[in-house]
Amino acid sequence: MIQIKSLAKSFRSTRVLQDVNLTIPDGESLVIIGRSGCGKSVLLKHIIGLLKPDAGEVVIDGVDIVPLNERQLAPVRQQFGMLFQGAALFDSMTVAENIAFALERLRLTPKEVARRVAESLEIVGLAGTQEKMPAELSGGMKKRVALARAVVGNPKVLLFDEPTTGLDPITADSINNLILDLCERFAVTSIAVTHDMVSAYKIADRIAMLHEGRIHATGTPEEIQAAADPVVDKFIHGRAEAKDDGH
Ligand SMILES: Nc1ncnc2c1ncn2[C@@H]1O[C@H](COP(=O)(O)OP(=O)(O)OP(=O)(O)O)[C@@H](O)[C@H]1O
Ligand SMILES: [Mg+2]
Repeated sequence: MIQIKSLAKSFRSTRVLQDVNLTIPDGESLVIIGRSGCGKSVLLKHIIGLLKPDAGEVVIDGVDIVPLNERQLAPVRQQFGMLFQGAALFDSMTVAENIAFALERLRLTPKEVARRVAESLEIVGLAGTQEKMPAELSGGMKKRVALARAVVGNPKVLLFDEPTTGLDPITADSINNLILDLCERFAVTSIAVTHDMVSAYKIADRIAMLHEGRIHATGTPEEIQAAADPVVDKFIHGRAEAKDDGH
């Protein structure tokens, strides 16, 4: 179980997270939605200790990871697989090397690494692409490689930052199906951040909306879709407020 308690984070004068409280039970697929710049990626980075909060706790299976140093965080991070925003592959490394990077800490034999890389590529439908370079891949294929890298270490928790942004609707849907499939197959907990509502409705057990540094609303996709709350309603129907619609 992951518990985020009273999390606050500012960058210089900008207060991004004010008071975030969220509990994610094991096995849940949570989707975090919210406007661009509201702090979704920042929140996700706190969950694996890539950022330290100014206040609050991130409790993973009973342990607050906020005070842990890099060395103490390593075994915690090993339980996570993360798809970073923009896929973020290393351009100078092959597909296989990009995926194997996530296994570095495990000190496996080259043969075992190769076996796991091949297996994860098969899972994402890219079997046999080990020697390709990222530049040779389409955007959708890069996301798949990044997904393979996220799952190769057999994580208990998968974090996805904008898994479908920048993809055409059909490719996005295939990535959503892949995420659903991965979550089911590995019985993982997943936390996805997106502003793509089609994707959110499809993959979420529960949706949480981040707004002005707090979790403004949570609910099942049906509950969020039917929400009368004006902030949620505006967001999910893509209506800009008068002050920022360019007029
Ligand atoms: N390392 C950092 N240093 C300074 N400011 C940062 C840093 N990371 C994020 N920010 C700021 O925090 C705010 C939230 O950023 P974040 O990337 O979490 O937004 P987001 O909700 O993920 O947006 P998007 O939907 O566009 O990805 C932004 O104002 C951003 O400029
Ligand atoms: Mg982001």
